[in-house]
Amino acid sequence: MLAQSDDSISSATSGDGKKPRHIAVIMDGNGRWARQRGLPRVAGHRRGVDAVRNMVSNCGKSDIPYLTLFAFSSENWRRPTTEVKLLIELLSSTLDSELMKMHEHDIRLRVIGDLSRFPKRLQRRIEDAEELTRDNTAMNVTIAINYGGRWDIEQTCRVIAERVGRGDIEPQAVTSELIESHLSTSDLPEPDLFIRTGGEKRISNFLLWQLAYTELFFTDVYWPDFDANSLKDALDYFAGRERRYGQTGEQIASLAQA
Ligand code: IPE
Ligand code: IPE
Ligand code: MG
Repeated sequence: MLAQSDDSISSATSGDGKKPRHIAVIMDGNGRWARQRGLPRVAGHRRGVDAVRNMVSNCGKSDIPYLTLFAFSSENWRRPTTEVKLLIELLSSTLDSELMKMHEHDIRLRVIGDLSRFPKRLQRRIEDAEELTRDNTAMNVTIAINYGGRWDIEQTCRVIAERVGRGDIEPQAVTSELIESHLSTSDLPEPDLFIRTGGEKRISNFLLWQLAYTELFFTDVYWPDFDANSLKDALDYFAGRERRYGQTGEQIASLAQA
């Protein structure tokens, strides 16, 4: 993760910081969207994919360069096997059907999470997709699958502990910056805006470290219904926030004038 330097703090609090650079989303409510219509949960997940496609396009139109989407959590394995299987199939078929379109739109795709539990074929397809889009620069879309914020911190601690154990680095070298450089989001900026659809007001083990100073937006809208207007509501909410990072409102006002 790009460290939150003084530079980025001042730009994030002055005029041009009114638009988020990085939006992270918990796409929740697919099941309830389907139930409301007397449909099976899978119908909600399918419509959820349409909402993802629209969200990527709407963020592109709004010049949001980084979008991170929580598609499958490390806890979602607890769901009925048939639903888990279906979600993995849907991920896999969506990757197949959308990859070339994303590439044509100059979108770089990243996938974060513990992929070791997925079929080898899917792991390879993900690697290929990341490789194919590596040099794309118009937009960065990151999909979190079998992702958990605790897992991310745990794998980071393990790697750092190994480095200390080998005598590679001193314990004093373990700083926030070092930790960030080992997180799975190491080449993404910190999320500016977090959106959770579906009415719940919790983080559900998403980006735990990374959300430290993120503005949080919760909406009752179910994910399949999240459209351009819902995004506008979230962006308007963000534009009205004053990001203080521990400073006072007066300090921020004088920074904006400088
Ligand atoms: C989000 O919708 C999608 C995933 C977690 C994969 P849900 O499936 O959680 O929908 P609800 O919360 O049951 O409505
Ligand atoms: C969070 O949604 C995970 C994803 C959207 C992928 P859940 O529906 O799994 O969250 P909880 O269980 O209600 O906290
Ligand atoms: Mg849910």
